[in-house]
Amino acid sequence: MVELSLTNCKLVPENIECSIGIEDGKIVSITKIPPKSDEIIDIRGKPILPGLIDSHVHFRDPGLTYKEDFRSGSEAAACGGFTTVMDMPNTKPPTTTKKAFLEKLSIAKKKSVIDFALHAGIEDLKQIKEISELNPASFKIFMDLVDNSFLMEAFKEISKLKQNYLISIHAEDKNLTNKCTEMEKSGINDNSKVYAKARPPISEVVAVSTAIAFSKFYDQKIHICHVSTKKALELINMAKRDENQITSEITPHHLFLDDSYFDRCGNIVKTNPPLRNNENKLDISRLNQIDILGTDHAPHGIKEKEKNVWEAPPGIPNLETTLPLLLNEVNKNKMDFKDIKRLLCENPAKIFNLSNKGRIGIGMDADFVVVDMKKEYIINPEDFKTKAKYSPFEGFKVKGMPVMTMVRGNIVMDSGEVFENKGKFVYDN
Ligand code: DOR
Ligand code: ZN
Repeated sequence: MVELSLTNCKLVPENIECSIGIEDGKIVSITKIPPKSDEIIDIRGKPILPGLIDSHVHFRDPGLTYKEDFRSGSEAAACGGFTTVMDMPNTKPPTTTKKAFLEKLSIAKKKSVIDFALHAGIEDLKQIKEISELNPASFKIFMDLVDNSFLMEAFKEISKLKQNYLISIHAEDKNLTNKCTEMEKSGINDNSKVYAKARPPISEVVAVSTAIAFSKFYDQKIHICHVSTKKALELINMAKRDENQITSEITPHHLFLDDSYFDRCGNIVKTNPPLRNNENKLDISRLNQIDILGTDHAPHGIKEKEKNVWEAPPGIPNLETTLPLLLNEVNKNKMDFKDIKRLLCENPAKIFNLSNKGRIGIGMDADFVVVDMKKEYIINPEDFKTKAKYSPFEGFKVKGMPVMTMVRGNIVMDSGEVFENKGKFVYDN
């Protein structure tokens, strides 16, 4: 006898029909014959995946909650099939002190409907040791904002810690982006496309090679966020051949969009690093060389996005469009369920040490997303739960949608409706 069972589940890509037994939020059985159970949810033969893990979101809470807060952000995540998110530190105040980390933790515990982790930022190097005791998912460094001398000190401190922490890297070179931005700003052209020139591919390539050099010298694990160019990925993959210390991430916008979207969408596609032209951009053919897909969900107010190209803030809200776009590719046979599981479940769990998540197996958390591969949808930002109700993917026709999301045995989304649930800090035991 189990508390809850999910019957008529289809495990993909194997296409195995089974029932999943759940007790205390954990998977206790996976069987052909349904177990005796207090409560039954019939999945009706639909594909079921491990709940998705997004290692890169910006929920703006505290301080910028008019853009997003932990409630709206986590609801958007649940609608997109995510059961765990990892929030970035560039909030107000930034998550760079023990006090700020604890404050954000308490906000997330109150508001989040799904499970969560928090990345730490670095301002004062003396705070690193203290904040490391609170189990951040990683230490995030924005290379577009700091000099190499700061990187040197930060790597030195972090590589000395008792626990083997990961450094997440925003890889754009500060000097090159500043110089190129200055040059483009003084030019006459101010349509959104100049933004791509203001932060050119070379700036990413240089930053990636610097980050690799620091990783090598300090024997320190690094995760390169939102890789946007072929050459940066090639450098990462060369370095990976001799080191087991480097992982990479791609966003849905760098995967699916090129710089022609500046003309179509204006500042809605302004993001750092920017969209690339076809010569430089990555695409589905390289997905097998990348470790993680992170949404980099970065919501802003629409009024801010309507400012001129230099003043509009960078970032794209992605939580509610990512899985539909990927399922659409699976329907077109351009991708496989295996890729979704690797990029959004297994690898994020492995890289960020979530031993109970990322897999459907006995003893694992009962985190799932059920998908309907026949459901068609035209992406419409008015339907979003995120506060940022715009998207460069507006009007895209997709086939394949998440229809139910479950976090530790609790339904948090069913047919687009969100239900109350108490999200948990993933490193609390
Ligand atoms: O486009 C971006 N938006 N890139 C970043 O690095 C930060 C993010 C944000 O917080 O809006
Ligand atoms: Zn980001």
